[in-house]
Amino acid sequence: MGAMRNSQSVKSVTHIISVKLLVVIYIIAVSAIMIDAARGSRRRRTKTSTTDELVVNLTLVERAADIGAFCLDGSLPAYRLDRGHGSGANNWILQFEGGGWCNDSESCIARKTTHRGSSNYMPKYATFSGILSNKQYENPDFFNWNRVKLMYCDGASFAGDLYDEVSGLYFRGQRIWHAMIADLLSKGMEHAEQALLSGCSAGGLATFLHCDDFRALLPRTATVKCHSDAGFFLDSKDISGTQHIRSFYNATANLQGVEKNLPQTCTSSQSDPNQCFFPQYLLPYIQTPIFVLNAAYDTWQDQLILMVIGIIVRLTQLSALQLNWRYCKDIGWRCLMHWKSLRNLKQEACLLIHALHIVNQRIETHGLLLTHQWLVTRPLQRLWEIGILNGGLQRK
Ligand SMILES: *[C@@H]1O[C@H](CO)[C@@H](O)[C@H](O)[C@H]1NC(C)=O
Ligand SMILES: *[C@@H]1O[C@H](CO)[C@@H](O)[C@H](O)[C@H]1NC(C)=O
Ligand SMILES: *[C@@H]1O[C@H](CO)[C@@H](O)[C@H](O)[C@H]1NC(C)=O
Repeated sequence: MGAMRNSQSVKSVTHIISVKLLVVIYIIAVSAIMIDAARGSRRRRTKTSTTDELVVNLTLVERAADIGAFCLDGSLPAYRLDRGHGSGANNWILQFEGGGWCNDSESCIARKTTHRGSSNYMPKYATFSGILSNKQYENPDFFNWNRVKLMYCDGASFAGDLYDEVSGLYFRGQRIWHAMIADLLSKGMEHAEQALLSGCSAGGLATFLHCDDFRALLPRTATVKCHSDAGFFLDSKDISGTQHIRSFYNATANLQGVEKNLPQTCTSSQSDPNQCFFPQYLLPYIQTPIFVLNAAYDTWQDQLILMVIGIIVRLTQLSALQLNWRYCKDIGWRCLMHWKSLRNLKQEACLLIHALHIVNQRIETHGLLLTHQWLVTRPLQRLWEIGILNGGLQRK
């Protein structure tokens, strides 16, 4: 009797699980369709009509030439600036544009004929939305600040500094960063009262790399903070067990002469200084308050770092994460030992959580929002767009 009830309850549990799985599949399918539909309609809108979307001009940084700060192809770097007003007139938010990295001559040369490597290919006008929006309902905390998008055209998160004679490529990310800051200081940022450095993806990594530098370049009296969105790229193995992202970053850093621009406090602590290109090693040395926003499973990271694609794998991740979220969070680093070489997906979530414990330990200055959504950047961008995350960020 008891055994029968047991096997029945096992059956019903299995049933519940499979129903849940179906529901999950359904939700995923529906949300994927809805996201695509939303993107489609937005595309259509921008093409066919002029709405009240904010369109912002491209400004070339002329003085960049004086210090040899050029995009990969030798063109001038550029940003987009929309002036603040009212109570935000002396506040500045800078956002690094993202867009991956180039790790060898071929991939960097390929960028020369795109907006990722040349200001000649950057659209003259682009819209500002989300955290850069000028609409109070969409962006309640920053809508009237000076809002700047720093265009990405160096291929190494604004951190390289070399000229390669053979390929004729300029790896001048660090100089571009300095040229942009100097230009913006002269346009009023020298009177900044509050300033926030932010960025998404490769721009989120740039935020880690330049956060303390930003603090140092701004007036002492200013309140300065940083915010990295989906920029916490992990030094983890891919599913075949190779350190793909490590060698990719190492190649990028070597190619572009990044090492000398990485914070010395970090590089002196690592046997290979280039490892400080990873936020997990750099973060403990960042002094300026930084707010880290990351998904435990970043779809982009899954593809690049783990090199796994496909809805089935994503489903596995989702349930693995639901099951192990608390466990993983509670035991932190030790979970790595448990799952070492077992399941890289779990390992990735654990490692990320552990690495972000560093933030937790310094919660008085640093902040953290870790989501367990697997559809990372898009929904988060959406949250910015509808302003949910804004209030929390400024209070932090
Ligand atoms: C575009 O930017 C330039 C500076 O690069 C500025 O002089 C010009 O007035 C801007 N045009 C518009 C329409 O905003
Ligand atoms: C650069 O990255 C690509 C793609 O991951 C890879 O195939 C190539 O071998 C890398 N080049 C170097 C020099 O690491
Ligand atoms: C990075 O590249 C250098 C030069 O090729 C090599 O000596 C070093 O071991 C590499 N570091 C890592 C962490 O792979």
